[in-house]
Formats: sequence, C-alpha cells, structure tokens
Amino acid sequence: MNKVNLSDKIFSTISKAGKELNYPVYVVGGYVRDQLLGRNKQDKDIDFVCVGSGIKFAKKTASLLSNKIKVTVFKNYGTAMFKYDGVEYEFVGARKESYQRNSRNPIVEEGTLQDDQNRRDFTINALAISLNEETFGEIVDSFGGILDLEYKLIKTPLNPDITFSDDPLRMLRAVRFACQLNFSIDEKTLEAITRNSSRIEIISQERITTEINKIILSKKPSIGFKLLEKTKLLPIIFPELENLKGVDIRNGQGHKDNFYHTLEVLDNISRNTSNLWLRWAAILHDIAKPKTKRFEAKVGWTFHGHEVVGARMVKPIFKKFKLPLSAEMRFVEKLVRLHLRPIPLSRDEISDSAIRRLIFDAGEDIDSLMILCEADITSKNKEKVKKYLKNFEFVREKIVEIEEKDSIRNFQPPISGEYIMEVFNLKPCREIGTIKNQIKEAILEGEIKNDYEEAKLLMYKLGKDLGLQKAQ
Ligand code: CTP
Repeated sequence: MNKVNLSDKIFSTISKAGKELNYPVYVVGGYVRDQLLGRNKQDKDIDFVCVGSGIKFAKKTASLLSNKIKVTVFKNYGTAMFKYDGVEYEFVGARKESYQRNSRNPIVEEGTLQDDQNRRDFTINALAISLNEETFGEIVDSFGGILDLEYKLIKTPLNPDITFSDDPLRMLRAVRFACQLNFSIDEKTLEAITRNSSRIEIISQERITTEINKIILSKKPSIGFKLLEKTKLLPIIFPELENLKGVDIRNGQGHKDNFYHTLEVLDNISRNTSNLWLRWAAILHDIAKPKTKRFEAKVGWTFHGHEVVGARMVKPIFKKFKLPLSAEMRFVEKLVRLHLRPIPLSRDEISDSAIRRLIFDAGEDIDSLMILCEADITSKNKEKVKKYLKNFEFVREKIVEIEEKDSIRNFQPPISGEYIMEVFNLKPCREIGTIKNQIKEAILEGEIKNDYEEAKLLMYKLGKDLGLQKAQ
C-alpha cells in the first residue's frame, strides 16, 4: 500500500485550524483512496470531515491561508468549500444522516467520525486520515477498507440495501469504481444492486450521465457496461444499448451479438483515444442494428441502412442523456453515418475520386473516422485483423497523398456564388447552385484541380451550356 502524501501546506494549515477551533479533523474520500492506491490522478477536489461545523471550519482554514479566498457555503447541507491553487477543498461536519424512504429530505444530526463513515458509500471511500496534532497521519479504518483496497473489492460499509436506499446513485458509482479501478463488486453488494436496480429511476439524469461518462472514459469501459447489464441497470438507463444484445438464428445462420461487439469496439478505440465523443461514436456506431435487422433468404442477416438510421438516433439519445446538442453531437452523428464508408475502399482497387469524396464528406474528422473503422475490426482471427488493418493503413496513406495534392479536407468552393452572380449578371437563382455543385463534382472526380483558374474556366463553360450571358 502506498503512503498518503500529507506534506502539502494545506494539511498543516487544516491541522492548525482544527487545533484553534478544537475540532477533530480528517481527510477522507477519494483523495485517501487514490493516494493509497498510488493512483496518478490530478486531484481536483479533496474532502475533509470535522467533528463540529464544516462551515466554520472552511472559513477558519481559508482565513489562515489568505485573506483573499472566497468560501462558498451550502447551508442546507451544512457544507462549505473553497478553491485554492486550482484545487477544491470541501468541508463537512460529521453527521448522522439517513433518508426516509418516502422523502428525499435527509434527517441530519451532528455525529461522530464513526457516524460519518457509516453513511459513506463504500469501505474504500470510508477511510479517514487524522490531521489532529497527536495522531497526524494515522488511518481510521472502521470497515476494513484497507483490506478491500488490497483485495480490490467494492463493498458497502453497512447493509447494502440501506446504503443504496440512502442514495441509489451509489449503485452506478459501484459499477463506475469497479470499472475505473478494475475492482470486483462484493457478492452481497452486487446482489443488492440487482435487487434495487429500479430505484435508479429517482436519480437525476445529470448525475447518471456523469457516471456513465466516467465509465466510458475508463481504460477498459466494457467492464462497466457488462456490470450494468448484469445488474439490470442497463435496460433502465440505456435501453438502446441493451437492445443490441442477443443472437437470432434462422436457417442455421446466426449474426454476431452486437452488444458484445460494440463493447469490443469501445475497448479497442479506448486504446487509441481518450476523446469522450469518439468513444461515444463507438458506442453508437451500430445502435440501429436491431431496428434495421432483416433475414434475406439469399444473403442471410442484413442491417441495411443502419448507419443512416443510427445517425438519426444520436440526437434523441444525446437529448435523453442531457449531453451537448452542438458540435459534439454533430461529430458523433457524422461518424455513425460514415462508419461504413472506408470499408469498401480498403478492399477494392481504390480510385482517387472515392478517396476525395470520403475526405470531402468527413472533412476535419477523417482521422477520427479512420480510428473508428480500425476499432470496428473485431474478428477472432488474428490474421484477418492484421490484414484489414494493413488495408486501412493503405487507405490512410492514400488520404495523406490526395490531401497534399488537392486540399479537400477544409473544402471551400474556389468560386463563390457572389462571383457567379457578378460574372453572369444574375439575381439569386437555381443556376448558381447548379454551377457551384458541378464545379465541386468536377474537383472530386479529378476532372479539374481544386484551383481558382481551372474552376473559372469550367464556370464559363457551364454558364454557356445553361445559356447564360456574361455581364459586359
Ligand atoms: N460519497 C458517498 N455517496 C455518494 C457520493 C459520495 O458516500 N453518492 C462520499 C464518498 O465517501 C466519496 C466522497 O463522498 O469518497 C467524495 O465523493 P466524490 O467527490 O463524488 O467522489 P470521490 O470518491 O472523491 O471519487 P471521484 O473523484 O473519482 O469521483
């Protein structure tokens, strides 16, 4: 087990504040857990518990550090926090607290450190380290949290039914920690999640989405999604993903299980990118397979158009998850819509114009699209995977080569609509669009270069064909 670093000035200052107020004080939660695990994580927030008023404590500590710190108080919760050197420090007074079944209002009473540890989510998060002068640095481990860190176990300190009924989000947090830390969930805790899964419905979507995104950003996100499936949380929080599960067999022909395939794609892509939205694209790339699934006597199972239907499903899913409906969503939509496009290019003789069209349609996101396509190769046959990857490597080389020549990536029409209007003395009309489009097509087909002079000559010819007169 690693040592907890308490050398920072903040810890001695807090110790001093505790002495002055005569409040016992402890550092708790994620900071302690991650330090003991030697997790190399930039700490953005550190939690402290004092036996006394958390609000007074925060104010005292802030005043000892500097007279410029603004303390934010959450009166209803009896907590306070401030930001110092980019880190958020949160202070809470030890409480006895439990939620009544029929009400979301907690009954809060002052309590001891042990009371406070009782009401925390997992044993590994209930460890406290003393910042009191006589016992500075000593660990208070009331529930065997250290052992659970060693055994890599997520386990509730109390009866899991109570811990989860206090805050059902903790069921999702259990899965998230198991996934992030590569821990197992203790059997009784796991059973309780399955038994209480429907209680997740009372939790706000924002809190759920935060946990889902943390699962997605883990090193191996499939661990989390398999646990969500196993505990029956998945059909409640992400039914579209649950629907990918299963294999139909007809005339002795099956198709792959798209749930497990998707998770493999997600793990694959996670080895190559930590971009949350590219990982979301991996999750959603086949999301419309259940909707588009057909059995055709001659060819077997097909999923025609799943990329188009899937792209249309992105917005409602983003809306439900309260994810941003702006550039991030459009990026995911685009990748889902285009995810099949590079495949034929890697198999057949590649024509330059097909590559040009792909670069034109993907634009700035062409590299992300290639990363997704490579992650989408999930064959068990290693030789096949190697071969497909090599083919994609060739597509990538062609992309670079053509991009250098033709600069299609950020395609700007070399001739503007205004210029066409000026040359032919036109008011806004359909012919302008026709000419612009034919110039673009000629560039993508490689008939002319992406170049002003060549485009201008073609514009004159197209205008003439359309019977337009040049302005004098
Ligand atoms: N906690 C809890 N129940 C919750 C949320 C938090 O008991 N639903 C407690 C845990 O003791 C946790 C601490 O509050 O360790 C701080 O919570 P938070 O900052 O959300 O999580 P961390 O454990 O710090 O982990 P991370 O920063 O990775 O989210």
